[in-house]
Parts: sequence; C-alpha cells; structure tokens
Amino acid sequence: MHYRILIIIFIVLFICGCTSEKHQITFSEHIAPIIYKNCTSCHRDGEGGGFSLATYNDVRKKAGTIAIVTQSRTMPPWPADPTYRHFADEKILSDEEIEMISAWVENGCPIGDSLSIPALPVFNDKTSQLGKPDLSVGFPSKYFIKGNNKDNFLVIKLPYELLRDTFIKTIEFIPGNKKLLHHMNGNLVVFNPEKKKNINTGEWYVNAEDSFDSHDMHARIGLLHDDNSYPMLIPSVVNYLPGVYSDKYPDGIGGWRLTKKGVIYINTMHYGPSPVDDYDSSYFNFFFTSTPPKRPLRELILGTIGVAPVVPELVIPPNTVKTFYTETVINKDISITTIVPHTCI
Ligand code: HEC
Repeated sequence: MHYRILIIIFIVLFICGCTSEKHQITFSEHIAPIIYKNCTSCHRDGEGGGFSLATYNDVRKKAGTIAIVTQSRTMPPWPADPTYRHFADEKILSDEEIEMISAWVENGCPIGDSLSIPALPVFNDKTSQLGKPDLSVGFPSKYFIKGNNKDNFLVIKLPYELLRDTFIKTIEFIPGNKKLLHHMNGNLVVFNPEKKKNINTGEWYVNAEDSFDSHDMHARIGLLHDDNSYPMLIPSVVNYLPGVYSDKYPDGIGGWRLTKKGVIYINTMHYGPSPVDDYDSSYFNFFFTSTPPKRPLRELILGTIGVAPVVPELVIPPNTVKTFYTETVINKDISITTIVPHTCI
C-alpha cells in the first residue's frame, strides 16, 4: 500500500517538473532567435536603430520598451497591411512571438542556458549580402562631409567599362556611411557609343545646391552626349533607404541589359546633417547573368510627380488628420515587388 502511494506521488511531481520547465520562456531558447531574426539587422553598431540588440544585456536593458513596441507593432517597422497581402521576407512578428516577449519580460527576463544562446547572424554589409559580385563600382575618392549641421544633396556619376555587353540580374548598393546617408536613388545611363567618345569626362559629383539648372548639372558631371543631347536612362535600378537591402529576385524576374560602357548615375545622394566632419565612400556591386530578363522591373510613380494626381491636393494644415487618394489603371498583369511611400516637403 505504502509503496503504491509513493509511486503515484513520484509520477505527479515528475509531470509538474516537466511542464513548468517547458513553459519557462528564456532568452537563449525563445527570445534571442526572435530578436536576431527580426531586430538585430537594424539594431547593432553603425545601423539606424540607434541602439544595439545583439546581446542578452542589450535586450534586457530595453526589455520594457521592447514589450511595448512589439505589442503596438511599431517594431519591427512594417507599414504594409498584412491582412491584405503578404510579401516575401516581410518583417512581422506572430501573435505567439509577441506574447512570448511580453511573458518573458513580465517574468523578469530569464537568460536560460547562456551557453546555448544562438550565434548572431552574420551581416556582410561591408562587402555584399548577396554573394560574390562580378563587378564593383565605387566613389573614385572619399566624399568629405563638412560638420556644419547642414544636409548634403549630391548628384553623382560613376563610370564602368567591360569587355562586352552583358545582362545584369541585380545591382546592390553598399553604403559607406550609414549614420549620415539618408537615401540614394541610382539609375543606369546607356550612351549611344557614336555620340559619346569618353565616358570619364566631367566631375564625379556636384552638390545639387550649387546649381539649380539640371542641364548644367548634368553637363558638369559629363552625363550628356558630346552633342549635348541626353542619353537613355534606366531609372531606379537600385535605391537605398536605411534598413532597405538589395534583393535578388527569382530567376526570370528583374535584371537589365548592360552595355559595355556606361555609368551609374545617382540623381540624389542625400546625407543628413552632422555636427562633426565625416566622410563617405559608397559603392555598387553588379551581379551578371547570361540570360536576358523575362519580366523586367519597372518603376511606376503615382502621385504629384507621377502618373496620377493626388486628390484632394496634398495640403495638410497643422493639427489635422487627412486622407488622400490616388489611382491609376494598369492594363497588363504585373507583380508588385516593392512599394516606396515618399513625401517631399
Ligand atoms: C528596419 C529597421 C528596424 C528593425 C528591423 C527594427 N527596428 Fe527598432 N527601431 C528602428 C529605428 C530606425 C528606430 C528609431 C526610431 C526613432 O528614432 O524614431 C527604432 C527604435 C526602436 C525602439 C525605441 C522606441 C522608443 O520609443 O524609444 C525599440 C525599443 C525598438 N526599436 C525595438 C525593436 C525590436 C524589438 C525590433 C524587432 C522585433 C526592432 N526594433 C526592429 C529600426 C528598426
């Protein structure tokens, strides 16, 4: 009889022990994988997130705010509406992940087995996130950013030369100064070889505020043909905003024909203000392919400077919330690969 009671007690204790261990949410087992996958790309040294979320101590120090910003879904930033459409690589936490974070914080942020904290993801953003490039084209020298608390807007031309024409799948931008770089819009320029003898003429950049005449600015960086006519432009082959990285799309999607001589033309390189002197030396990686693009990428601009007006006119008086609409008809089936919301003041 005694023997039987003992066995029953033992089994009950054993089951309790098991379940409580299973429900213990720890940094090493549950929280680190969520943070490393969804947060650390922006929250680490030199990135735009402002503070690092790379170690247990980093995360514990910010735990209260992390619980709030994940619950409100302000972090990770993902403005697209997930109840409407899903995107590849979207950064959205699941309800379970959000609950797990908040339960972990309420429970005092236990670390768990510190030896089994997963390794930090490797970010090859000083070289390439996409592999080994076939060609890299960069600033010919460092651009000096004066510490005068003013914005810098540059127009830049970077020439390249190859043995023969080819196709490119992707162009990747590697920012040299993530702290100050606000955005970059990159385009390809295809010269008519009959009309452009030397693609290296002109200054490699001009400060957009030095000249209000865009023709004059383009002439100064040698972007025009020898007879002063404009070459062909392939717009927006690569753009950059903090936290945005270049993508390699599946085979058949994206890509361009690349003539053996041409230039990358940055129509806006915007550096934010800095109180101290600094510099930048950014560059582009080209990834070649032997096949022409089947479904090329095109940019469609809606809104004031695009194909469709904004209704009503885009004027927002102080202290008001207003809604605006714009629409256009697309007469072919297309896939949307990226959306870039943008306002200009
Ligand atoms: C795409 C880049 C990016 C990702 C990914 C990202 N953050 Fe952020 N985060 C930012 C930026 C930029 C700020 C600063 C916002 C500001 O200053 O207005 C910020 C601010 C914060 C803040 C401070 C908010 C405050 O009000 O003080 C917290 C906390 C935070 N992030 C946590 C997270 C967590 C947790 C994740 C992942 C679940 C995450 N972030 C993912 C870019 C990112």
